[in-house]
Amino acid sequence: METMSYEASPSRYKDGMEYRLCGRSGLRLPALSLGLWHNFGSVNDFSNAKKILLHAFDKGITHFDLANNYGPEPGTAEANFGRIMDESLRPYRDELIVSTKAGHEMWPGPYGDGSSRKNLIASLNQSLRRMRLDYVDIFYSHRYDGVTPIEETVQTLIDIVRSGKALYAGISKYPSHLAQKAYDIMENAGVHCLIYQGRYSMLSRQPEENGENGESVLDGVKKNGVGFIAFSPLAQGLLTDRYLNGIPEGSRAASGSPFLSGKDITPELLERLRRLNDFAKERSCTLSQVALRWLLDNPAVTSVLVGASSVEQLDTNLRAVETPALSPEEYQTLASLMK
Ligand SMILES: NC(=O)c1ccc[n+]([C@@H]2O[C@H](COP(=O)([O-])OP(=O)(O)OC[C@H]3O[C@@H](n4cnc5c(N)ncnc54)[C@H](OP(=O)(O)O)[C@@H]3O)[C@@H](O)[C@H]2O)c1
Repeated sequence: METMSYEASPSRYKDGMEYRLCGRSGLRLPALSLGLWHNFGSVNDFSNAKKILLHAFDKGITHFDLANNYGPEPGTAEANFGRIMDESLRPYRDELIVSTKAGHEMWPGPYGDGSSRKNLIASLNQSLRRMRLDYVDIFYSHRYDGVTPIEETVQTLIDIVRSGKALYAGISKYPSHLAQKAYDIMENAGVHCLIYQGRYSMLSRQPEENGENGESVLDGVKKNGVGFIAFSPLAQGLLTDRYLNGIPEGSRAASGSPFLSGKDITPELLERLRRLNDFAKERSCTLSQVALRWLLDNPAVTSVLVGASSVEQLDTNLRAVETPALSPEEYQTLASLMK
């Protein structure tokens, strides 16, 4: 049972965190946001998860990103977040931006997966109960499911915002041409799409590539005044020193994760990571700080959504916000090292 009461650090808004306007909206997001995809589920140590989350808030991270299926077990990251809300964060609700999503497999049967109106609304109601919240700040369609007409999914996002169960809506991983369709439908309904969430890192640059409409996702967000939040900015830990000397026990790649396995860490990739790590050392910072800085320097990027399994990792990453911007020469050098 929790006995220690929590009081947020009085210096949380004076420790160097930047807050950036999210597209053409009045909402500011912290340069670094914290994601609860891994390390916050029922299989993880609750007290460590809570320590990371509260430390993040103490350091000015006001945005926490969840989804219905985060855990494992699916749903337990939201349940643990709800417990932390009750134990510590409830007095700070108006200082928090909490997001959740629906669209990937969550419960059995035809309504627990995909982007139908049925799934999105049922899922959001479940998420609110698990997180012990009356509303979320941002609700996302987690993916385009390839079946549900985009009009149905996007109308549901609009209705959810109008219902007050979410203050804003966003989309994640939509191909560029469908993202444009979503922006247009929302704009016409008077509910601006707040944000696009996409995988973006020095190792994964899909948001820069042109889609079927001849535009990239990054072009699209800029043109439509939509914010962009980059997920897996450290390529799940590859863009750190975590794997430079083998696969450490307790790491994501060692834990049997379906998303990152030892097989992904090829000798060619390691060679590239070592070159990038040497570059970081010459700059007197860590590889993770360079990887985050590279994203923070991009004017299309509103916030960078990191994960962390310890307070120490988070602290290392927080220092990226104060690391000087990359010079054009450094940017060029990095471009050649990434290849
Ligand atoms: N929209 C979507 O479909 C989608 C998909 C994926 C993720 N996301 C969101 O993005 C968030 C972040 O994703 P991610 O966890 O893949 O992000 P990430 O920041 O690329 O990877 C986080 C992992 O990297 C390692 N790490 C972080 N900082 C480190 C440091 N300083 N030194 C050494 N290792 C470090 C840790 O791995 P270890 O656990 O091995 O210590 C940590 O768990 C998620 O929580 C979620 O909110 C969204």
